[in-house]
Amino acid sequence: MESPTPSRRPVIAGNWKMHRTVRESVELIRQLKPLVEASRHCDILVAPPFTALWSAARAAEGSPIAIAAQDLHWESQGAFTGEVSPGMVAEAGCRYAILGHSERRSLFGETSRAVSRKAEAALEAGLNPIVCLGEQLSERESGRTEEVVGGQFRQSLAGLTEDALSRTMIAYEPVWAIGTGRAATPEMAQGVHAFIRGLAAEVFSRQAAEQLPILYGGSVKPENVDGLMARADIDGALVGGASLKAESFAAIVNFQT
Ligand code: PGA
Repeated sequence: MESPTPSRRPVIAGNWKMHRTVRESVELIRQLKPLVEASRHCDILVAPPFTALWSAARAAEGSPIAIAAQDLHWESQGAFTGEVSPGMVAEAGCRYAILGHSERRSLFGETSRAVSRKAEAALEAGLNPIVCLGEQLSERESGRTEEVVGGQFRQSLAGLTEDALSRTMIAYEPVWAIGTGRAATPEMAQGVHAFIRGLAAEVFSRQAAEQLPILYGGSVKPENVDGLMARADIDGALVGGASLKAESFAAIVNFQT
């Protein structure tokens, strides 16, 4: 059977985690801008800490760099000390929100149920969610990768309509590859991405699955991005450590197409 030509545009996203003050964020964007201004082959986004969102968005104006939040709460306002709402980050200049990152799941007890509420709330505020999924090393070693990632997919996207899915991205980030320097091989990542796309076809539709961007995350570097991006179901990268330096992030953005 002939496979349809996917219309998916590559996405390279930088997750700055709890790094960079307001001043440092503005400086990093300033350094990044000239290195990516001619990069039209992919969407580029960075996720600074909450405090720097507004300033980073101003600094990125006139460039292809879009801004993402690293998390948000599902309510629009209220007595939720320490939380930030979708409308707040949208007003600060965000167009995207990373949700359910494995650090939030494992260090802060975030459940897939919470991720699904956050995804719905993000979409309602006009943001595009990037929903993260990924197995722990012990789960991979015991052959449970598909069970774990499949369960996270179903629960984290529960309740989304097909239209909502068309504004959503997935990031597959095996926990054992995050910040360890040990990326999944392109074959390993492709296998899980194809599994996720198959599941999206089952839960939503074939067409929705074909259009769904699935990013890979976990020790992506300038040296391994080309091999990953060459794979059919790998549509982009969610980059942690290597997104904190303008040169290395730009080298990833400018991967070999
Ligand atoms: P890393 O992080 O690139 O430093 O492995 C990726 C992520 O956590 O999104």
